[in-house]
Amino acid sequence: MTKTARAYTNIALIKYWGKKDKQFKLPYTNSLSLTLDRFYTDTKSEVIDSDKDQIHLNGKLLNEQQSKRIVNYLDFVRNYFDFNEHLAIDSVNHVPTSAGFASSASGFAALAASINQTMKLNLDDRSLSILARNGSGSATRSIYGGFVEWIAGNSNDTSYAVPIDEHPNIDLSLLSVVISQDTKKVSSTNGMESSVKTSPFYDNWVTLVSSEINEIKQAIAQKDVQKIGELSEHNAMSMHALTLSANPSFTYFVPETLQVIQLVKSLRSQGVLAYVTIDAGPNVKIICTKESTPIVQKYIEDNLPTVTTVVANIGNGIQYI
Ligand code: DP6
Repeated sequence: MTKTARAYTNIALIKYWGKKDKQFKLPYTNSLSLTLDRFYTDTKSEVIDSDKDQIHLNGKLLNEQQSKRIVNYLDFVRNYFDFNEHLAIDSVNHVPTSAGFASSASGFAALAASINQTMKLNLDDRSLSILARNGSGSATRSIYGGFVEWIAGNSNDTSYAVPIDEHPNIDLSLLSVVISQDTKKVSSTNGMESSVKTSPFYDNWVTLVSSEINEIKQAIAQKDVQKIGELSEHNAMSMHALTLSANPSFTYFVPETLQVIQLVKSLRSQGVLAYVTIDAGPNVKIICTKESTPIVQKYIEDNLPTVTTVVANIGNGIQYI
């Protein structure tokens, strides 16, 4: 009997934004993330006697259109590892849509781990991160817990995640501020493609990331949460500057996104440790300490009664249960 593969989602502190190879999802730059404990995907798979895959997501059978991305991925995996069997996939997201996290990172990491088990591929964690990357770039980092770096590489075999510190003893929490649960109008895949092609600042982004990756690794080693926060916030704002400077320009921000940024700055001026990071959507994640988390949470909720907040801590890598 195959076990359930569980993968946790991750938040990029130094972000992946742009592919130099679309087919294998090879990024232009390294990126660095933190795996979170609250949000995960559980996936089971089994070989079925059929010429079609069967995909269940959160208990519902997906139709052809809805399962296209996953079936394309399974076709890639079949071709890559040279097997013909079709699979029944049963995947449950414990990434509450209300938490404002994308589920593709935990989703494809759990799927890769489950296929590895069912098809007895015997992949080690590095090879598993390569397999997960081919589903969604950010999934490559969800194979490991704690702080994780994705090495950009220049081929399918050289682009993978490495653990920086899987169980860091560091006083860092993440407060997720959920502004909207609507599906984003510009997917990450399309948003990064347009930024690469049209932003005049894209080359600067590549240079910036290579220095910020080194700086944040030092800050992690020194357990310097303030420095981690400063670098993460600057990196996120620089990524969003690429969307604003794309042609045509676009943004993931909504008015409340800017309001949360202002509230965090005002808290900082009062000596509270809080820094924002924002992915390809309107929701804001705030890097805090155990001490600052309740203060930040109350301040945001008091000033913006329409938003909801969820606190997450540092999570583990792939588990089989
Ligand atoms: C802003 O991993 O969703 O969250 O590889 O096209 O599936 P694809 O993109 P995806 O992009 C994530 C973008 C980001 C930054 C990050 O997680 O590093």
